[in-house]
Amino acid sequence: MSDQAVMTDNKAEVVTKAPILITGAAQRLGRAAAIHFARQGYPVIISYRRERDDLAELRALGITTLQADFSDVAGIQAFIEQVKQHTNCLRAIIHNASCWLPDSKEPEQAAVGFQQMFQVHMMAPYLINHQCQPLLMASEGARDIVHMTDAVVRKGSKKHGAYVATKAGLESLTQSFAAMFAPDIKVNGIAPALIIFNDDDDEVYRTKALKKSALQIEPGEEVINLSLDYLLNNHYLTGVILPVEGGRSLI
Ligand SMILES: NC(=O)c1ccc[n+]([C@@H]2O[C@H](COP(=O)([O-])OP(=O)(O)OC[C@H]3O[C@@H](n4cnc5c(N)ncnc54)[C@H](OP(=O)(O)O)[C@@H]3O)[C@@H](O)[C@H]2O)c1
Repeated sequence: MSDQAVMTDNKAEVVTKAPILITGAAQRLGRAAAIHFARQGYPVIISYRRERDDLAELRALGITTLQADFSDVAGIQAFIEQVKQHTNCLRAIIHNASCWLPDSKEPEQAAVGFQQMFQVHMMAPYLINHQCQPLLMASEGARDIVHMTDAVVRKGSKKHGAYVATKAGLESLTQSFAAMFAPDIKVNGIAPALIIFNDDDDEVYRTKALKKSALQIEPGEEVINLSLDYLLNNHYLTGVILPVEGGRSLI
């Protein structure tokens, strides 16, 4: 891959790889992916919504952290402008930002929740992909977009119908962008089931959740990093949704 010019806060410097952009990467899977790619020598740019102390560790690794809130179109557009100010090229975009809200019977709350998840899971990837396509095209070699969806799209959900619907929309966008951007940019999805628990998941929930997959483990972030490496390094895959779900569909 040829050298690419990447602008940091005050100056332009030459680096050997085009950056990987990961949304919603201050914590958990996105954070692990950011560290993973930084350790591979990629410049990494992430978005975060809420400032927190442990962003310092990412910044110390040289990861560029951009504040962004995708709750409305103005917030998404402001993020795209920030990205363009920081780099003139991209190796990959990983759409990881996500919002997991339960359905509500209260109409106003239900509408706000659905709108919020539509913004984060569908509108942000849609606008970012279109407007950052030139940045991807400005890098040489492989170029990728990865959409983080969810294995539950295959089944639906009694309690998170709006979440699942908007993740299903993201899977649909995967195929449309794959067709639209071929042959220059590969566009694929990863559909995880349980990867890591939330800190506040109790033992009853954990036991029940583990039994939902054939392999019955909490695999940890590494399985997503392996999947990202696989998609980015495989030059004959596009429009594919890769299930990373421990045999959940077998149960
Ligand atoms: N973890 C799992 O086991 C699992 C299972 C199935 C699917 N997935 C999918 O894999 C991906 C990563 O999962 P995760 O559990 O690591 O995600 P997560 O902890 O929920 O983190 C997602 C990030 O998205 C950001 N975000 C939420 N709303 C936003 C908004 N309006 N604007 C901008 N950013 C926003 C949050 O930023 P702040 O924290 O700064 O607010 C959060 O850090 C997600 O797409 C998820 O749906 C994960």
